[in-house]
Amino acid sequence: MSGCAPATSRIGRVSAKTFSACSSSSLGWEVADAAALDQLAARLETAGVRVERQPKALADARRVQELIAFVDPLGNRLEAFHGAEIAAEPFRPGRAISGFRTGPLGMGHVVLTVERVEDVLWFYQDVLGLRLSDYMLEPFKIYFFHVNPRHHSFAVLETGTNGIHHLMVELYMLDDVGQAYDLASREDGRIAATLGRHTNDFMTSFYSRTPSGFLVEYGWGGRSIDPDSWKAVEMTHGPSLWGHERTWIPADQLAQAREMRGRAALEGQRQPVQVIEGNYTLAPGTCPWWDATRKVGGS
Ligand SMILES: [Fe+2]
Repeated sequence: MSGCAPATSRIGRVSAKTFSACSSSSLGWEVADAAALDQLAARLETAGVRVERQPKALADARRVQELIAFVDPLGNRLEAFHGAEIAAEPFRPGRAISGFRTGPLGMGHVVLTVERVEDVLWFYQDVLGLRLSDYMLEPFKIYFFHVNPRHHSFAVLETGTNGIHHLMVELYMLDDVGQAYDLASREDGRIAATLGRHTNDFMTSFYSRTPSGFLVEYGWGGRSIDPDSWKAVEMTHGPSLWGHERTWIPADQLAQAREMRGRAALEGQRQPVQVIEGNYTLAPGTCPWWDATRKVGGS
C-alpha cells in the first residue's frame, strides 16, 4: 500500500498473505540509510538481541535496498530497512477513496497486545529508541510511542495475550471513513469498535476485524506533534472522547470505558478537528456566543 504524491509513493507498505496463523507476520521500521541500519544493528547486538542480515531475495520482495531482522522480547518478528523503492506510477486504490495519509508520517500505526507491558517497554523505548507520546492505565494499560510528527506510530496494550492488536491507516477525507463504516457494517461481527474519536491523537475512526483476528483501525484527522518539544503525560480521560464502543474488551473495562466517556461528555471534553490543506472549507461568520465559548474552552 502506498499513498501521497507520486514522487514519494512507496511500492510496498503493507502486504497480506494467506497463512494458517498470523504468527508469520513481521513489522518493518525504516531508517535513513545504510549507516543508520548498521548503527541500529550494533545497538541491538550490544543489548543482546540477535540480528540477522536478510538475503537480497527478501529485500527485493519487500521492495527495499537492505534489510535486517530480529525479534522483540516476546518473539514478535521485526525488520528494519533502508532504501524503500519509489513507485513510478501514482497509487491507484481498489475503491474510490481519497488516499492514505503517509509520506513523512509513515504508514500509520501498529499496536501490539502483550501479556505485561513491562516485558517490552525497555526494548522499544531504550533499545529501539521510540519516544513516549503518552500512556493510560485505565480502562486498560497502553503506552503510545512516536518516531516522527505522527502522534503515535506504535503502542503496546496490556490484555494478557501476545500478538498484533491492530493496524491503523489514515485517510485524507472524513467521508472515506464513514463510507467504509457503512460497508463494514453490512457484515455481522465485522465491526470491532464503533465510530469514535480518540483523546490523544484526535483520530476519528472505527475498528474492524480481519480474517486473521487482529483489527484494522480506519481513521481521519490525526494530530501532528513536534517530537522535539513533546512532553509525555498520563491520559486520565480514557481512550475516546466519544464512541469507540469496544466489543473486544471484558465487561468490567467496557463499563469503565462507558463511564469515562460519560464523564468526558459531562465535562465538555472536546478538541478541534485536525485538518490539512484541501480537506476542509472554513465556514463564514462567527457570533459572540462562539467567540466566548472558544475563550473559555480553548478550542
Ligand atoms: Fe489505534
